[in-house]
Amino acid sequence: MFEPRKEIEHFEPYRPGKSIDQVKRELGLKRVVKLASNENALGPSPKAQSALSRASSKMHLYPDGNSTRLREVLSRRLGVKTGEVILGAGSDELIELLGKTYLRPADDIVVSECAFIRYAMAGQLMGSRVVSVPMKDLTHDLSALAAAVTPRTKFVFVANPNNPTGTYNTASEVEDFLGRLPDSVLPVIDEAYFEFARVRKDYPDSIDYFRKGRRLITLRTFSKIYGLAGLRVGYGVAPADIVQTLDRVRPPFNVSSAAQAAAEAALDDDAHVRKTVKLVEKEKARVAKVLKSMKIEWTPSAGNFLLLDVSPRRGEEVFQALLREGVIVRPLDEYGLPRHIRVTLGLPEENDLFLKALKGVYSKP
Ligand SMILES: Cc1ncc(COP(=O)(O)O)c(C=O)c1O
Repeated sequence: MFEPRKEIEHFEPYRPGKSIDQVKRELGLKRVVKLASNENALGPSPKAQSALSRASSKMHLYPDGNSTRLREVLSRRLGVKTGEVILGAGSDELIELLGKTYLRPADDIVVSECAFIRYAMAGQLMGSRVVSVPMKDLTHDLSALAAAVTPRTKFVFVANPNNPTGTYNTASEVEDFLGRLPDSVLPVIDEAYFEFARVRKDYPDSIDYFRKGRRLITLRTFSKIYGLAGLRVGYGVAPADIVQTLDRVRPPFNVSSAAQAAAEAALDDDAHVRKTVKLVEKEKARVAKVLKSMKIEWTPSAGNFLLLDVSPRRGEEVFQALLREGVIVRPLDEYGLPRHIRVTLGLPEENDLFLKALKGVYSKP
């Protein structure tokens, strides 16, 4: 028999948010809004779009396999060395790359129970043990995560803020956490929603600790605020020896030339970032107010999405009902949250459509 490795016997395909076209086709709908994958409602930055069309005339050439310019721009912005920056086809690729490069069956990784699911998958892929630690009020319990570390532990993954809960850990919590970890373990702080969260005063920039000499890995992405999810580009800041090792394992042309060009231009578009944060904060407050009037509980979020508690209904059932109204959200059974849904904050008219459809669902017994 031609069988895959036993480690992946129980793997299910990752369930991405349904696409607009798919839902239109399946349900015969004309208008569908996608609030399922925490993308930027305003789209990509105009500067990135121009850079992308300029890059298109060079499509016949392989990309710069080292993403040299993008690494340089990032290292200058972040105050780290170029050799401390690694680029990936989304931060997702970097998560998997960490697993493939470092994890053995004898190793553990430590994650929270409702953490972004790709960490556990990276561990399972390599046959490592995934130690899952309960959260406290849907927030990472950093003391418990630190306490779960053993001599077998290679990585502790912490998304700050976390997806799908939207909760974040404060600077003092993160500092205390880092202080508790033994040198043998490498913390991976995933800041996919950094640019949204940093408007909060007590939200830490984990690269600050790195610059002060702490061995850790910070992951960030161009998929969220920079609006480039379709191009697949993310980055990590890590100790130079880790970057060198990952560079030996990653596919040589993992970041396309289109993605490199667009990412560099997007970094230069502060106006687009500011506009996005403003929209998200405004819509978050507005949607939250309506949810309150509907007596639906939500979790305060530092990201561009909200976690709603739809109990006693099932999240899957609410998801299906909203789908029939042309609104795609995310059910969260795979995160152990069967009575929640996650909704991305979209444009005002998209959020209105969501709220109207949700009212329709709640008006039925
Ligand atoms: C916390 C977190 N990390 C990483 C990712 C992966 O993002 P990408 O691979 O698009 O960079 C996501 C995407 O939803 C996320 O929410």
